[in-house]
Amino acid sequence: MNFYDKDIVSIRDLDRKQIEEILKVSEKMVPYAKGEKRAKVLEGKILGNLFFEPSTRTRLSFESAAHRLGVDVIDVSEMSMTAISKGETLADTIRMVDAYCDLIVLRHPHEGAARLAAKFSDNPVINAGDGAGSHPTQTLLDLFTIKRAKKRIDGLNIVIVGDLKYGRTVHSLVDALTLFGANLTFVAPETLQMPDDNIKHITEKGSKPKLTDRLEDAIPNADVLYVTRIQKERFPDPSEYNKVAGMYRIDNAMLREAKKDLVVLHPLPRIDEIAPEVDDTSHAKYFEQAFNGIPVRMALLYMILGGEGL
Ligand code: CP
Repeated sequence: MNFYDKDIVSIRDLDRKQIEEILKVSEKMVPYAKGEKRAKVLEGKILGNLFFEPSTRTRLSFESAAHRLGVDVIDVSEMSMTAISKGETLADTIRMVDAYCDLIVLRHPHEGAARLAAKFSDNPVINAGDGAGSHPTQTLLDLFTIKRAKKRIDGLNIVIVGDLKYGRTVHSLVDALTLFGANLTFVAPETLQMPDDNIKHITEKGSKPKLTDRLEDAIPNADVLYVTRIQKERFPDPSEYNKVAGMYRIDNAMLREAKKDLVVLHPLPRIDEIAPEVDDTSHAKYFEQAFNGIPVRMALLYMILGGEGL
């Protein structure tokens, strides 16, 4: 399967076989991601990390993945530090960065920015999150974490709770979980439910998602509980945020009726959706999930930049 020079703008750019291939290579990357083995197989390559929205995990794990493979990193983390602040367009900025590196990783507040970047860049572009749009590499690491924890994805009961309207990670995730035949339940207040377009897309692909606002009813049958933060920064009206803030909070009492092997995931950062007491239970896999960003992003760099020898 050839990933050389491929853009990763949306999870919809990948089919199930391609995703499985990325997960297979990610598995191989684990000892390298932990520093137990060394693999400077992409020495001489340069990654351009453009993060125009805050990030801890995505930015640093791409950087760590690059270093583990011998890739040099150039980066910008604020638009004010670029000529965009002087009025340069994103298209011209991308043309310039394209000339300075071999692959661009872009996080941007506007939905569609990564697709635009891919159009103006000769080198491949990876979408690291575009507004409330999508976050395909997060989805790949989510799938990797689920596969490692449950040994399969097909047929799992996956409950997704929180801000399903503005949460870009879940927009990508439900597409991929549909490809893998998981059973989906979406838990959110009506105002933050999964957008109709996303539901239409997965329904056309064969998914039959259940929609509810009652988390307590969904937990007992769940194999995976995917918790998300209410995306305060994307609410046009702060009073609307105040109406839904703190609506769902997972604590040990809430998990009393859960299956023993329930896996709790969260793309992070969390605010108060998961009580710290859950961190010490066998359900909590969200920190492992965040680590998995490194092997998965190493696999992407390796495959897209034409790595050989591992
Ligand atoms: N999950 C995620 O995208 O985290 P960051 O915003 O810290 O990159």
